[in-house]
Amino acid sequence: MTKKRVAVLISGRGSNLQALMDAQQDVYEIVLVVSNVPGVAGLERARAAGIEAIALDHKPYGKNREAFERDLDALLIERRIELVALAGFMRVLTPYFVRAWAGRLINIHPSLLPKHPGVNTHARALEAGDAEHGCTVHLVVEEVDAGEIIGQAQTPILPGDTPETLANRVLELEHALYPRCLANFARTLAA
Ligand code: GAR
Repeated sequence: MTKKRVAVLISGRGSNLQALMDAQQDVYEIVLVVSNVPGVAGLERARAAGIEAIALDHKPYGKNREAFERDLDALLIERRIELVALAGFMRVLTPYFVRAWAGRLINIHPSLLPKHPGVNTHARALEAGDAEHGCTVHLVVEEVDAGEIIGQAQTPILPGDTPETLANRVLELEHALYPRCLANFARTLAA
């Protein structure tokens, strides 16, 4: 079986990207990393692993989100990308991009969706008095954090937890969950 050519989109430190790169890539191969924020640590992680890493700064595009996405799309097509994994990519994608990559675009989100879509998920899980928290890998659809769920991992919320302690615990779960889900997803596409 040929490995699926994967692009990972990031905006920051790239610890999930690192987990995806470190995992055994027998069904997928990360061939491109794109960050919408120049100079972030995730780009360096990719380069250190010998993977092409490109900063595509969204700022010069101003409010024209679609123009940014058209250039991103062109780059992905040029590199013959088959599957796109968002890993801490902190820009909401427009229907234009989501439709173009429908069924081949996945994301990791730091909550047990459908609970707590959006931002500040750890604080919100604490405020809500949730008994457990975690992370979700899901298909990306037009509605934010609402696509079909591919996998989840849970942790109990402990007395004394803060948003920081929870974030650290959930991040560890993310690092185990995402490579597994990406591999499973790549396998379903290969069938
Ligand atoms: C991760 O916790 C990821 O789930 C979250 O950003 C963090 C990125 O960390 N993503 C979102 O909130 C997406 N809405 P990383 O750059 O170290 O992988």
